[in-house]
Amino acid sequence: MSVTQKKFNRRKFLSSLGILGIGTAATGAYGKVIGAEALELGEHRILISNVPGQKPLKILQLSDLHASETVSLDFIQRAVNLGLESRPDLICLTGDYITRKYDQWERYADILAPLAAAAPTYATLGNHDGGRWCRQHLDGYNDTEEVRKLLEKSQIKLLDNSVEQVDLRDWKINLAGLGDVWAKEFSPEKTFKNVSATSGRHTVVLSHNPDTKDALKNHPWDLMLCGHTHGGQVRLPLVGAPISPVRDKRFVQGLHRWDNRWIHITKGVGNLYGLRINCRPEVSLLTLV
Ligand SMILES: [Fe+2]
Repeated sequence: MSVTQKKFNRRKFLSSLGILGIGTAATGAYGKVIGAEALELGEHRILISNVPGQKPLKILQLSDLHASETVSLDFIQRAVNLGLESRPDLICLTGDYITRKYDQWERYADILAPLAAAAPTYATLGNHDGGRWCRQHLDGYNDTEEVRKLLEKSQIKLLDNSVEQVDLRDWKINLAGLGDVWAKEFSPEKTFKNVSATSGRHTVVLSHNPDTKDALKNHPWDLMLCGHTHGGQVRLPLVGAPISPVRDKRFVQGLHRWDNRWIHITKGVGNLYGLRINCRPEVSLLTLV
């Protein structure tokens, strides 16, 4: 088992921060949260185009919604509404729609449905959405059926180690969506088999876990959108983000230049264990220029 995949529960999570006392006092016996609902819009402009005068393309990225006892559907609805206020051209969801098992699927689908009604909307899955990792590390779903049905009901297209060509405004984009690496569903070879570096198209990758960048290094892409880290979820002065479930601690949040391309890691909407400190939840608006 990788260090970053240890079985976690709320007490272990707080203990491993070394702030069990702070965490317990902060979250209280009833799961009160700090800043976990102080939603913000995170904005970045990303220079990708080499065509003079090309119109900007607005991508809304939502990730790690984590519908659960600590993240309500009302809060997720606020995130959807905030994202749609920016009038995106394209919407990308990068996994972890739930935390464990869930039972409010009908209402959840109603809340997500306005996304696809507003713009073409594509999704990939995360480690919490069911399958091997959930079986081994959580009391979660054995497979991803429930989340797949949720996306289907919401008219959201799942990219499951597959590519969709999306032509919007002046842009010709390959959207490449990968399966989750912790769930052992990650297949770059299958995903990229028909993606050419010389097609004249820009390739945007949706991959839940930013650690997957290294396995994708030899494939042609311009921008990768990730979640998974929740921005660290807890950021402490001098310490940084002690709980970041990634090997490469440089890639926990924000926009980064890497290997002559771009990687964006959103802090995400939801949380685990009802706690965020100095790490507000966000919906992300990425403007390609
Ligand atoms: Fe997550």
